[in-house]
Amino acid sequence: MVSKETSAAKDAVHTLRVGVVGAGVMGTNHGRVLAGLPGIEMVGIVDPMLEHRTRAEKLIGCKTFADLDAMLAAGVDAVTIAAPTHLHHEVALACIAKGIHVLVEKPIASTVEEGREIVDAAQKAGVTLMIGHVERFNPAVATIKKAIEGEDILSIGITRVGPFPPRMSNVGVVIDLAVHDIDLIRWFTESDIVEVQPQLASAVAEREDIALLQFRTASGVLAHINTNWLTPFKARTVTVATRGKYVMGDLLTRQVTECFGFKTDGSYSMRHLPVGQDEPLRAELMAFLDAVRTGGVPAVTGEEGVASLEIAIQCLEAPKKRAATATRPAPRKVVG
Ligand SMILES: NC(=O)c1ccc[n+]([C@@H]2O[C@H](COP(=O)([O-])OP(=O)(O)OC[C@H]3O[C@@H](n4cnc5c(N)ncnc54)[C@H](O)[C@@H]3O)[C@@H](O)[C@H]2O)c1
Repeated sequence: MVSKETSAAKDAVHTLRVGVVGAGVMGTNHGRVLAGLPGIEMVGIVDPMLEHRTRAEKLIGCKTFADLDAMLAAGVDAVTIAAPTHLHHEVALACIAKGIHVLVEKPIASTVEEGREIVDAAQKAGVTLMIGHVERFNPAVATIKKAIEGEDILSIGITRVGPFPPRMSNVGVVIDLAVHDIDLIRWFTESDIVEVQPQLASAVAEREDIALLQFRTASGVLAHINTNWLTPFKARTVTVATRGKYVMGDLLTRQVTECFGFKTDGSYSMRHLPVGQDEPLRAELMAFLDAVRTGGVPAVTGEEGVASLEIAIQCLEAPKKRAATATRPAPRKVVG
């Protein structure tokens, strides 16, 4: 039998003191999920906006702080950073400098350089750094990943469309939405993206609100992402063609189907695959805390976060470079 004292000592070792930075949409979700996880003590949430702190206190019933230093002074082992993206760099470096483990929401930072600085600082300090590419924890995505394991992947198609978000941030669809799918393409193929062919347009917003992005990976897979804020309903679908299978997944309804057993007469078999029920954010935060406890490699590393951001930024830069080097076409003559 474990004595009370030993058990208390064990709890003291395993109980992690965790805080959240940002009490907006994502940060409130982090706080809600963390407050329900075993083995952690929710220290509180930081947000400079009183209204957001009051909302978090009511929803989560946790302590809130008006600035980061106040929360760090209360003592935390790990934080999740869900402040606006342009603050990820500053907040992450401040936490890492104090030896605190960090989960940084996606995208890792506003620029590749800032992302790399976060990665370097975490490495030097020996703290866990994980990036919140939560879609990897969607059970439908996990089922697709398992279905294509060991298969020779040929192409991937991802659609992530919907209406304009209620509050526009200062990024367009590539950084806000497509970065999720760039990460999925890299993860599914376990290969780097080596070619990007983006088409972007700003139909209504100042930043791009339509993006059709084509990629080639080092392993030779062709992939495309169709994303926009101009579709009246949300849709998130993934298709993967391999030599032996065609896998189709709906990330919202969480239905995954595979076609297989292709015959020369064009016939094939089809089956629905079992999909788990986990809440993606819960699974992601548990994976982060597990990496903190064990010191193991986190499920989404900082380097992976930087690589996906780098491709997203290439998608934004490529059309500008094309425009700068394009020669103006001669006026077209209509003959007839
Ligand atoms: N993984 C996902 O699916 C997903 C979804 C949405 C947003 N995000 C990411 O989460 C982050 C936050 O996005 P959001 O939609 O919750 O934004 P939001 O605007 O709803 O929330 C941001 C919050 O941060 C607060 N804040 C501002 N300055 C701060 C500071 N110095 N310290 C602490 N808090 C501060 C704001 O007051 C606000 O409450 C972004 O990086 C975004 O890309 C990820």
